[in-house]
Amino acid sequence: MSALLIKDILALPPDGREICTNGWVRTKRESKSVCFLEISDGSTIHNLQIVIDLPNNPLSNVISTISTGASIRVKGNLVPSQGSGQSKEIAAKDIFIYGTAPADEYPLQKKRHSFEFLREIAHLRPRTNTFGAIARVRSSMSFAIHTFFQERGFVYVHTPIITGSDCEGAGQMFQVTTLPLENVPMKEGTVDYTEDFFGKKASLTVSGQLEGETYALALTRIYTFGPTFRAENSNTSRHLAEFWMVEPEVAFCDIIGNMNLAEEFIKYILTWLLDKCADDMNFFNSRIDNNLIFTLENIIKNRFERITYTEAISLLEKSGENFEFPPKWGNDLQSEHERYITEKAFKKPVIITDYPKEIKAFYMKLNDDEKTVRAMDVLVPRLGEIIGGSEREADYDKLKNRMLELGLNPDDYWWYLDLRRFGTVPHSGFGLGFERLIQFVTGMQNIRDVIPYPRCVKTLEF
Ligand code: 4AD
Ligand code: MG
Repeated sequence: MSALLIKDILALPPDGREICTNGWVRTKRESKSVCFLEISDGSTIHNLQIVIDLPNNPLSNVISTISTGASIRVKGNLVPSQGSGQSKEIAAKDIFIYGTAPADEYPLQKKRHSFEFLREIAHLRPRTNTFGAIARVRSSMSFAIHTFFQERGFVYVHTPIITGSDCEGAGQMFQVTTLPLENVPMKEGTVDYTEDFFGKKASLTVSGQLEGETYALALTRIYTFGPTFRAENSNTSRHLAEFWMVEPEVAFCDIIGNMNLAEEFIKYILTWLLDKCADDMNFFNSRIDNNLIFTLENIIKNRFERITYTEAISLLEKSGENFEFPPKWGNDLQSEHERYITEKAFKKPVIITDYPKEIKAFYMKLNDDEKTVRAMDVLVPRLGEIIGGSEREADYDKLKNRMLELGLNPDDYWWYLDLRRFGTVPHSGFGLGFERLIQFVTGMQNIRDVIPYPRCVKTLEF
């Protein structure tokens, strides 16, 4: 008999049919007459109850070696449950132990563990309710993202992980080299990269955008969805050194079209989540944030606010709030500012556009005022920036000028500039931080808890 997943068993009627399943024991309760096992296989947030009538049962010996964490196979009949808490259970006829888990050593006993502690045993934390639910939500949201774009004619493009150009120009790249670090070849006082693997300096990508643009200017609608890397020295609850980014890029599209796409996209994937991951979302709503589902439903229902950076600054100045960093035109918005705007001023997601060019990347389209660029950031309550994007500079001379102003060498970006020489078109795109999204929809406080193995400053275990 082939084994069923617990999620499929729980959808069956308890009509006494014979069933076989596998799982890890969550709890064992025993009296003289009966033993109850709760088992989980991670296919759903729910456990399956196994009942073994004890007196004179040849399974007694097997049961005595089972404790929390043991892996077992169960055969039995699916019957209505007598107890409260579940509607069906398995009356066991046969139990096989794949592996035991010594009670004095297995760290995941029934008591609640702090997320900090669970980070230290990240190889076992997917066996807990919270981390199992996060893994399922991540998986479903990935599928939602692909479905949203595929349904709309976007082509999925695989942009390179190793790159020779710095997309954001922020110098936060991890270098990739095969040069011996203890004896680096030098030439005229600097490192001789001609001796390196690629014959030039190479890094891990911070964004697939630039290469993505080359495909958008051939296929019109594209998206990338892959890992990105940033050597940011920020030890916060919203930053990872390795994270996943979704980056759509659309030709013949201005910043308004870009904002509309971002809003439609977020609403689509949130609707998908509440529909397809209802059990896991109810869990997050009851255990992590009691307002979670209400908040997400409101986001789906209401139009995102849209204001310019200049409007945002004046709103902050007039707020009467005592900010640690007083808002000032020209400075980047701080997290306290983002929270005021989304949580107090509008109580919903806000798209902020037209930032000062000095605080944004070189590729953004310059506005006629020559002071601001056509950037658009989507901010959400509690978290702040979840999406960063822009209309791109489509004019060859203006783009080259921006590079020179920022000290970038246009020769390094010759292929990117070529797009503006041959059939240039208005085009736009954005990047959604996948872990920020998962953090937002699950209510989890720390981004390190929404990716299986977080990589951060001075953190590289597993
Ligand atoms: O705003 P960012 O830097 O934009 C870009 O990289 C553009 N090239 C995207 C584009 O237009 N195609 O990053 C985009 C998003 C942020 O809004 C944030 O959600 C996430 O990526 N992000 C991070 N997430 C986790 N850890 C970090 N260190 C992050 N840095 C950015
Ligand atoms: Mg940004």
